[in-house]
Amino acid sequence: MVETQQTAVASKTMLDVRGLKMYFPLTRGVILQRTIGYVRAVDDISFTIERGQTLGLVGESGSGKTTIGRTLIRLYKPTAGEILFEGEDLAKLHGEGLRQMRRRVQMVFQDPYASLNPRFTIGSLVSEPMHIYKLGTAKEIRERTEELLRVVGLRPEYIDRYPHEFSGGQRQRIAVARALSINPELVIADEPVSALDVSIRAQVLNLLQRLQQQFHLTYLFVSHDLSVVRHVADRIAVMYLGKIVEIADRDELYTAPKHPYTRALLSAVPIPDPKIERQRQRIILSGDLPSPINIPAGCRFHTRCPMAQSICREIEPKFEAKEGREHYAACHFAEKVTPV
Ligand SMILES: Nc1ncnc2c1ncn2[C@@H]1O[C@H](COP(=O)(O)OP(=O)(O)OP(=O)(O)O)[C@@H](O)[C@H]1O
Ligand code: SF4
Ligand SMILES: [Mg+2]
Repeated sequence: MVETQQTAVASKTMLDVRGLKMYFPLTRGVILQRTIGYVRAVDDISFTIERGQTLGLVGESGSGKTTIGRTLIRLYKPTAGEILFEGEDLAKLHGEGLRQMRRRVQMVFQDPYASLNPRFTIGSLVSEPMHIYKLGTAKEIRERTEELLRVVGLRPEYIDRYPHEFSGGQRQRIAVARALSINPELVIADEPVSALDVSIRAQVLNLLQRLQQQFHLTYLFVSHDLSVVRHVADRIAVMYLGKIVEIADRDELYTAPKHPYTRALLSAVPIPDPKIERQRQRIILSGDLPSPINIPAGCRFHTRCPMAQSICREIEPKFEAKEGREHYAACHFAEKVTPV
């Protein structure tokens, strides 16, 4: 790819998210609807992603990971905050500006069975975005579609087949080809391998990594599984109940966590050595994730935190730098958190 002057001078930071909130209103009444509260799915989060890097986003089910992804591609209008993409605030875009931005930021969804319309051939599915953005003649688009199928490891002869003729792993390759068809710069991959058989997860992960090199892609990689994220991410952000509670370089997060929630997640990642695995302490969190409609006061993790003290019920810990500028955590007792 020929590097344009624009990309050559572009800053290292591709995405700079500041104070992002996504609240869904809860309403009551049929004709006269009243708002009676909010689901605070994403509750004031900030993070950056450097060009060409992968940020892994982890957290248990319901923590707000998908909502972040959907808000970044502006399927939702954020309640508050800025989404600076190459310095331009995506949160403020609409109309043609939004349409052009959507070319540059694409999302791959978790379930390749639900995300591909069964009534279309894979050729139409992969080429549709190129037709929407008028990226060439019909012949050029067909040729590029065949090329994209090759790039993701599928035979171009499959172009006129339908999604039901493919396995889960192959479908996810089709979804990836579709996302890449319009040359995006940032790809949000929302649990791209969770719905797949364990045996083919590695293949799809390897494909995503190869494509990142080949097309200079930047990834936000969402997963509830820290062992998957470890393979792909440069930095990792840990989410709990709508907030990022810790963010650090991958190795630092694994070796020196600064938040008890991260520590609990790490303790559940299996280690291949059975001897070490047997001796390890596994931290079982009590209770369920509280509702994002009724977020606990103070530190939102205090209802489940094994290290909680009375201050935690009253004062919300600041999300601040711990050990160097690149490692942030929100815990009053971060310095007491030990490695797993
Ligand atoms: N459109 C919506 N309207 C109301 N509430 C929503 C909406 N979308 C998500 N939520 C709520 O927001 C919270 C976060 O959901 P989200 O899907 O972002 O979590 P997640 O981390 O992706 O979970 P999972 O791992 O299960 O995919 C949940 O409580 C969910 O019920
Ligand atoms: S602030 Fe308190 S409750 Fe919150 S994570 Fe730290 S120790 Fe646990
Ligand atoms: Mg999700």
